[in-house]
Amino acid sequence: MGKFIVIEGPDGTGKSTVIEGLKRAYKDKNIKYFREPGGSQVGEKIRTILLNKDTQISSATEALLFAAMRSENYEMLKKDLKEYDLIIADRFLMSSICYQGAGLGLGVKDVEMVNDFALKGFRPDLNILLMLNADQGIDRKIQERELDRLELRGLDFHERVVSEYQKFTNSQGVKVVDASRSKEEVLSDVVEIINGEMGW
Ligand code: TYD
Repeated sequence: MGKFIVIEGPDGTGKSTVIEGLKRAYKDKNIKYFREPGGSQVGEKIRTILLNKDTQISSATEALLFAAMRSENYEMLKKDLKEYDLIIADRFLMSSICYQGAGLGLGVKDVEMVNDFALKGFRPDLNILLMLNADQGIDRKIQERELDRLELRGLDFHERVVSEYQKFTNSQGVKVVDASRSKEEVLSDVVEIINGEMGW
């Protein structure tokens, strides 16, 4: 059985850059990558709904759409973990806890409950958490491109998200990387953590 590692963190912490770096660093390894929201055929359609600025949905519907998207990824993971040595995801369950549970104020317990229905208790082997302050992260995003529906929620929302991520920094199964440093330093820490987990 392969392992499942998730790259997590608030907006603008450089997850996508890290994942591009991992693809280069591990080009000869048997690794599959996916991103959330998305990852499956239906998941990519749900992603379009979730990120579109014209979408108007309740907070509960939003949390359920994320959980539905994740349920497809769970089915995919069950199959793919038999085939790949490692599966790396750009966001997973911790994102829903922080964004929908804390950010939208739905409550961490309820968001965990709907995700437990989707995941049947399945959890990643490891979460690698990239951390920055809320305003640092959003500043970085604004410089990159136009913000989507989920990123347009304002600093209060993002502060609640970041403080929920902060609570995970001492949890079991979570390794924290300081994302305020250079791309090279961040990537090198992430590679070291993955090598340790995989025994590479
Ligand atoms: P994306 O464009 O993939 O950005 P990023 O590079 O920051 O991952 O957008 C993902 C957005 O979806 C991001 O703002 C976080 C949000 N999100 C949730 O609110 N809940 C979730 O469960 C997931 C997976 C993502």
